[in-house]
Amino acid sequence: MDTPNAPQPTGFHHWDPEEDDVLVCRAVREETADVKTFVFAPRTRRQFVFDPGQFLTFEFEIDGETIYRCYTISASPTRPDTCAITVKRVPNGPVSNWLHDHFKPGMSLKATGPMGEFSWARHGSATGKYLLVSGGSGVTPMMSMTRSAYDLAEIRNVVFLHAARTPADIVFEDELAVMSRRNRSIRVAHICEADAPGHGWTGFRGRLTLGMLEAAAPDFREREVFVCGPVPFMSAVRAILKEAGLDMSRYHEESFNFEDLSAGAQAEVQTATDEMAPAARTFRIEFAKTKRVVECPEDMPILEAARRAGLRLPSSCTKGLCGTCKSKKVSGDVEMNHQGGIRQREIDAGQILICCAQPRSDVVIER
Ligand SMILES: Cc1cc2nc3c(=O)[nH]c(=O)nc-3n(C[C@H](O)[C@H](O)[C@H](O)COP(=O)(O)OP(=O)(O)OC[C@H]3O[C@@H](n4cnc5c(N)ncnc54)[C@H](O)[C@@H]3O)c2cc1C
Ligand code: FES
Repeated sequence: MDTPNAPQPTGFHHWDPEEDDVLVCRAVREETADVKTFVFAPRTRRQFVFDPGQFLTFEFEIDGETIYRCYTISASPTRPDTCAITVKRVPNGPVSNWLHDHFKPGMSLKATGPMGEFSWARHGSATGKYLLVSGGSGVTPMMSMTRSAYDLAEIRNVVFLHAARTPADIVFEDELAVMSRRNRSIRVAHICEADAPGHGWTGFRGRLTLGMLEAAAPDFREREVFVCGPVPFMSAVRAILKEAGLDMSRYHEESFNFEDLSAGAQAEVQTATDEMAPAARTFRIEFAKTKRVVECPEDMPILEAARRAGLRLPSSCTKGLCGTCKSKKVSGDVEMNHQGGIRQREIDAGQILICCAQPRSDVVIER
């Protein structure tokens, strides 16, 4: 593993969400018709320390509900006084649309993190060569890594391959063009499915193929590969690379779509519980606001039991990492094995991560 973070200049302190988790919006930038960047700074001058590719979990109060969502930091850790997230509008999505329609400079949000393993700081390449493949809003971790390599003038050989619907939907096109023009070890190629009105496309067209991959990065088998985008996109890229003989220990992916992530995790839990011998004790889990009650075996996470009973609750990583499923426990005992997605003072205040909390008594949850 590479050393993740550069030393701090003297006189500055790191941003520490344990001390002050409020981030103030400094600017909102329109990237494309449905993508905006939100730039944040701490309330007092602090510097952000993170690996490029990591994400923050934000807390939103929308229509009286507390909602948690993760956003990858699209900015580079080399410019530590601010950080930024770049958000795509998701049809009918409560948070992305609220950010686009209502969030303005001067407003603030609570955030925790940084978290996540999807970074070349954590999966370095022995050859110094990288292939970054993104679709849609999956561009954000790639942008953070590429911006940091450019700012630090690092000796990294980067091929940045991005798939967009049309040329008008390419995020960060100008900045990528400047970086690749001025630093020849950064090469950028885009793939578009269609033209945009008044904006024809002469580059790669359609969906990513092995031919495009070989044209953009003929030596892709020697590269550490990072892939982020919609789940079908990642599955297609993974299949192409595997079929083409990439050593899959060099393959790293991150999904932004929690339902598909959870489906995988759910299948694992299902297999594990199916193999479980004799029946475990079962407890009653009451969701106070929605007045739903589910039965949960003592060796099953509460989120999983709720899902099986047909409840749709917010979740993302399902591993106690991201904080999306954080919920207030009104009463009862749980055993929780988290991976940093909740802070001690939140636990002390009665919060739990339901994706990694198993009941030890009947439990009431404020949801
Ligand atoms: C680790 C991590 C990092 C993330 N980083 C980013 C980021 O940098 N930029 C960003 O825009 N989003 C990112 N997301 C997704 C983000 O957390 C929200 O899910 C997204 O903004 C939609 O929130 P919502 O409340 O509007 O809709 P939701 O209620 O969360 O989603 C509505 C529906 O859209 C699907 N969906 C969610 N996100 C997307 C998407 N990006 N594209 C297509 N369908 C989607 C959901 O599965 C659901 O079916 C990230 C998610 C994770 C887990
Ligand atoms: S879903 Fe990520 S911490 Fe629970």
